[in-house]
Amino acid sequence: MAVTIIARIQAYLQLWMMLAVALVYLPITLISHPFLLITSPSSFRSAWFESYFSVLGPMLARSDVQAGHVEQVLSRAKGTVLELGPGGGDQIYHYKTDQIDQIYAAEPNTFLHPALLRNAEKHGLKGKVVPLKAGAEPGSLLPALKKAGLIASTTSSIPEEGVFDSIVAIKCLCSAPQDQIPATVEVVHALLKPGGEFLFFEHVANDTDSITMSYAWVMNWIWPVMMGNCHLNGKVDKVVLRTGGWDDRNVQNISEFQGLEVFRYVKGICRKA
Ligand SMILES: C[S@@+](CC[C@H](N)C(=O)[O-])C[C@H]1O[C@@H](n2cnc3c(N)ncnc32)[C@H](O)[C@@H]1O
Repeated sequence: MAVTIIARIQAYLQLWMMLAVALVYLPITLISHPFLLITSPSSFRSAWFESYFSVLGPMLARSDVQAGHVEQVLSRAKGTVLELGPGGGDQIYHYKTDQIDQIYAAEPNTFLHPALLRNAEKHGLKGKVVPLKAGAEPGSLLPALKKAGLIASTTSSIPEEGVFDSIVAIKCLCSAPQDQIPATVEVVHALLKPGGEFLFFEHVANDTDSITMSYAWVMNWIWPVMMGNCHLNGKVDKVVLRTGGWDDRNVQNISEFQGLEVFRYVKGICRKA
């Protein structure tokens, strides 16, 4: 489908609009956490992200581009679930609550945990969401799972029978260390029970044309600094497609919307053999 110039310009400007929202919340965060920037710059960044994502997150989660696709992947989650980077739980309304036993929510930004628990309660998952302070990368995730008693603290290996029925990642692997995405996908695979599913909806590096690719490359210098370490050159789709051990690997490009020239969204439903 040909992309109109207007849609393309809107796609490019969308990034600047999001950066502007982040900038507006910078002084607000400075006022609400006056000493944090000095005492803990990384916590300040987390508090700043929480402040503007509490505005952007719900809007994005309800947008046409995301809602239907995220619904398709999240409504499959069942049993014991691991959600990577759930943020403030803006996507939690897609879960089918009667299918869920427990959701372990690996969210490294603890400023988002209260909203996550509020959204869990609001959408029928009260008492079923356990926030863990952890990123998706193995060096952060595995110690947190050990601390939560989900894997033995005495061994270095993950139990052969796996731990989770579903592992979910919605727009968060872009914020995990990019050089560790292959190791992260390997650990996700190992943590799934046989027949368990890795369910994701992520944005990855665009391949639209050389102008857009160059634009994303330039923007990727500033974007992670302002946007909670989110990168515009994600590659989870490619990593999953070259990893073995899946019974079924359904990885699709979301291509029915214009204006996704910088963020190329992909949706994955991958069943462990
Ligand atoms: C764009 S937000 C998406 C939040 C939520 N999944 C949603 O769709 O509304 C990205 C999330 O990834 C989290 N994050 C940051 N670093 C991460 C990491 N290393 N591993 C996993 N998630 C991370 C952020 O704290 C944030 O909550």
